[in-house]
Amino acid sequence: MLKLYNTDVSLSDENIKIEINRLANSLPQNRPKLSVFGLGYVGAVTSVCFANMGYKVIGVDLDEVKVDQMNSGIAPIKEARLDENLAVALEAKKFRATTDAKDAVENSDISLVSVCTPSHVNGSCNISYLIDVSKSIGKVLKNKDSYHLIIYRSTIPPGTTQEILTPIIEEASGKKHGVDFGVCFNPEFLRESTAIKDFYKSPKTVIGSNDKKAAQLASSLYENVEGEIFLCKTEVAEFIKYTDNTWHALKVSFANEIGRLCKAANVDSHAVMDIFCSDTKLNISKKYLSPGTAFGGSCLPKDVRAIQNLASYFELDLPVINSIIKSNEVHVDYIINRISMNAGQNVGFLGVTFKPGTDDLRESPIIAVIEQLTERGKHVRLHDNNITKNSEACEGGNKIIADLAAMSTRTAFELCKSSDIIVVTHHTKEYQELIETFSQEKIIIDLVRLNTKTRDAELYQGICW
Ligand SMILES: NC(=O)c1ccc[n+]([C@@H]2O[C@H](COP(=O)([O-])OP(=O)(O)OC[C@H]3O[C@@H](n4cnc5c(N)ncnc54)[C@H](O)[C@@H]3O)[C@@H](O)[C@H]2O)c1
Repeated sequence: MLKLYNTDVSLSDENIKIEINRLANSLPQNRPKLSVFGLGYVGAVTSVCFANMGYKVIGVDLDEVKVDQMNSGIAPIKEARLDENLAVALEAKKFRATTDAKDAVENSDISLVSVCTPSHVNGSCNISYLIDVSKSIGKVLKNKDSYHLIIYRSTIPPGTTQEILTPIIEEASGKKHGVDFGVCFNPEFLRESTAIKDFYKSPKTVIGSNDKKAAQLASSLYENVEGEIFLCKTEVAEFIKYTDNTWHALKVSFANEIGRLCKAANVDSHAVMDIFCSDTKLNISKKYLSPGTAFGGSCLPKDVRAIQNLASYFELDLPVINSIIKSNEVHVDYIINRISMNAGQNVGFLGVTFKPGTDDLRESPIIAVIEQLTERGKHVRLHDNNITKNSEACEGGNKIIADLAAMSTRTAFELCKSSDIIVVTHHTKEYQELIETFSQEKIIIDLVRLNTKTRDAELYQGICW
């Protein structure tokens, strides 16, 4: 992938000019003209970076001070190398700022929208600034003949782009989405203080759109920027940003709770976390990040409880760690309720141990699900090739094994045949094939997201998707 602009090294003005010229020459001559709404932390950087990639950019803000500052070469925010990049963009006549939305939309082909979306008092996302921008863009589009693309970049809840903002543009413009204008959602992943570097070396580019032309045009802007481009549904793109930020916040809180506990126990938390992070197979990886079944087994619940106990010994409040077991219990209840809400008395489980390939029944969340369903009057039947008389079930183990044996069906096929509802808890080839066989006649509840072609079947239900 082309390295566009070396933001790691402070380039002299002359070097910047050479780099910019090289960039401009690498792009097609008929590239679209851009307008960027909102010249805050995101918009100011985005405008200048696109301008220095060779696009003609008009920045728009209601704040006259910011507009005047940017036109005079003064960055309206403190951000590494923004001043020098702005100077280059202005000198090349690739960037100008205005308060006039009409001027900006009329003189551009694509509008990127990065206005603020602060919190309401109750924590919900305030999208009023986006609504105002959408109305003003729509009004200008009313009298514009050429196709225009609107790319929303502000962080917003899923559904906002399609269900709220697009209809607003349609109403204000009297034009048709997908025909006269296109809409995309393209989240911003830059971090303040390294924003310019992050723009060119983005961890990823995500374009959400249900409109192919819009998605293609939007992704063409990022062809020369580092990072993989993901095309997805609009609501997926909207949700990614929230998922990313919640994960980052969780990481900080988790690390700090481990740190507080380590300090109390006189353990070097940085040594612990350095080794923890070096494990990219199980720790910093996709592992355990797949929505579906609850956790269980002989280690995770036991060891989380031990850590909670240690925290209470040191009289430490660790709310993130202390809520893990509770969260898992809530998830087990959710699974029970999702199964119970279906009509049909006979429930068949494909898999009972906490994961395939082991006969260990200790703290399998599926046992809690089976017990609850039985209490609610469901007739439960099981299939699990792993379970033997010697299977480890810990306390009360013999009783559980005896109960499970009584519920067991000899073959998985027989189980499916005699069930109204089939619950799949193990991701195996055998179960996947069976689900495909029975997908048109039985209710299937999938806890492990099988790679089945029948996910669209009417009777198929994913537990978290
Ligand atoms: N700051 C970050 O690091 C960051 C990173 C990724 C995503 N985001 C998201 O990007 C969005 C923008 O964040 P920000 O930090 O740049 O906000 P900001 O408050 O710094 O800037 C928003 C700008 O929009 C302008 N504005 C408001 N209404 C306008 C209108 N109708 N027309 C033109 N301009 C208008 C404001 O005057 C302001 O200058 C938010 O949704 C935020 O969550 C921010």
